[in-house]
Order: sequence, then structure tokens, then C-alpha cells
Amino acid sequence: MKADKCEKSGNKYTPGPIGIFDSGYGGLTILDGIRRALPEYDYLYLGDNARAPYGTRSFDIVFDFTRQAVEELFSRGCHLVILACNTASAKALRSIQQQVLPTLYPERRVLGVIRPTVEKVGEISRSGHLGLLATPGTVRSHSYMLEIAKLHPDMQLTETECPMWVPLIETGEAMGPGADYFVKKYIDRTMAADPQIDTLLLGCTHYPILLPKIKAYAPEGVKVLAQGDIVGRSLADYLRRHPEMEAKCTKGGVTSYFTTENADIFNRLASLFTGDDVAASRITLS
Ligand code: DGL
Repeated sequence: MKADKCEKSGNKYTPGPIGIFDSGYGGLTILDGIRRALPEYDYLYLGDNARAPYGTRSFDIVFDFTRQAVEELFSRGCHLVILACNTASAKALRSIQQQVLPTLYPERRVLGVIRPTVEKVGEISRSGHLGLLATPGTVRSHSYMLEIAKLHPDMQLTETECPMWVPLIETGEAMGPGADYFVKKYIDRTMAADPQIDTLLLGCTHYPILLPKIKAYAPEGVKVLAQGDIVGRSLADYLRRHPEMEAKCTKGGVTSYFTTENADIFNRLASLFTGDDVAASRITLS
């Protein structure tokens, strides 16, 4: 692990952008929600597109990759990093918070997306029956199940692995007709397991990119809940409650993008997904 030169050099900190990390394009949907809530801050987005998807990888690998990404964002001046990825939040967040930060980066913070989502879901479902659509990694971690059992013990959760959705997005096939088959398949499977479901929770930050198709195949009256705005409002609340961290975040309204894949490929798809002109730099993580 890298030593935190900034933290070791004294008590004075140079403020920096807020880091947003995802395995690939999915975190852009969280970045959108965060920028809607907090447009005045600077952001540094990092997509590990060269190694996506993470959703089928083991705990150890997701932890290693996520730690590398977080350390990269720290070395580029971020004091606060959002894991805009459910798989990384499910498999790496706790270890980073409990093992890495206290010893190496005691003044820096890493936050995930699962807890704020579960907090919100209680206000949305009327029937108390929820469907979770997520990567195999997130489903098998049972992170949502555990958080829901803690915060909303009366709610019923049906979890569905959607292993084909992230590859469709990462390969630029999200809008194509081939995506329809797999979108319908996983929604039908979830609704068949519990017809009382009234809210489908998109527990992967990539999935809002498929939103038009997901909404088209969700039964009428069933709400589809994406995480971007939830995480944006939750981060705004966090910064209000933590003025010492807020003071370390620069305000200029500028977003910089980094990817581990070819930058031209990233720019084309990221621009399509965000509607912005994205000009990323390619970096290598280790
Ligand atoms: N966007 C990620 C998530 O929220 C990721 C997926 C992946 O790389 O499989 O889970």
C-alpha cells in the first residue's frame, strides 16, 4: 500500500475534488445525481473500465481493485471518495473503512451507496415487498438483505442476479435490441418470485443506463428506484454534518475523468450516457 504523503507532511491540507469511483460507466449515474444536488464542487471520476465487470469477481479481487482505485484518488488530492459501485460497496467498503483508513489515511473518508439507498426505500414501498436487481457479487454478499433486516425488518426482499446487464452497458449495447431479451428476463423472474413487489430497486449503478427498457418491462404500477439522486442528497447531508470534510473539498464546478481503458472508447460512451463532452485521461492502477 502507498504511504499517505499528504497526511504525513503535516497538519495543513490542500483541499481537493471529491473522488467518485466505479468499475466502469455505472458511477456516471451517481455522479449525475451528486452534481444535481451539489453542483458547486469539483469531482474526479475514475472508471476501472479495463477490469470491469467487477460483479462476478471474488471478494479478494474486488477489495484489491477498489483499494488501488481509492489510493489513486487519494494521491490525486481527494480527501473524500464515494464508491459509486454497489459491488465495491458490498465487497470492499467495510474492509477499507476498518483496515485501510485507520492505519494509513486516518483523515480521509470513503463512503458507499448501499446504506443511503436502503434508508430511502422505506419511504417508497407501500406493500413492503421489494425486488433487488443487482450484480451476482452484490446479491451473493447479501448486503442489501442485511441492511434491510436492520432498518426495515418487516420488508420482504427478493434478490435477482442480472449478470448480463453490466456487460451489455460496458460494450455499448444498452440501447440495442439485444438488451431487451435480458432486461425482460430478469424483471419477469423477479416479479414471478413475488407478485406483491411494488418497488424494483436498481442495486447496481450501471442499471439506470438501461432505464427506458427497464421501465418498459416493469409491470404497470411498479416503481423503479435508481440511486443517483438518493446518493446526491445523502452526500449533501453528510457534508452539512461534517464541516471539517466539507472544508477539504474544492468548489469550482469542474469534473475530471480518468479511465483504465482506452480514453477514446470511454469518452464516446461516457458522453452518450452523461450528455456531457467527456475528455478522459487513461491511467493504470496497481
Ligand atoms: N456499477 C457496479 C455496481 O453498482 C458494477 C458493476 C460491475 O462491474 O459488475 O455494482
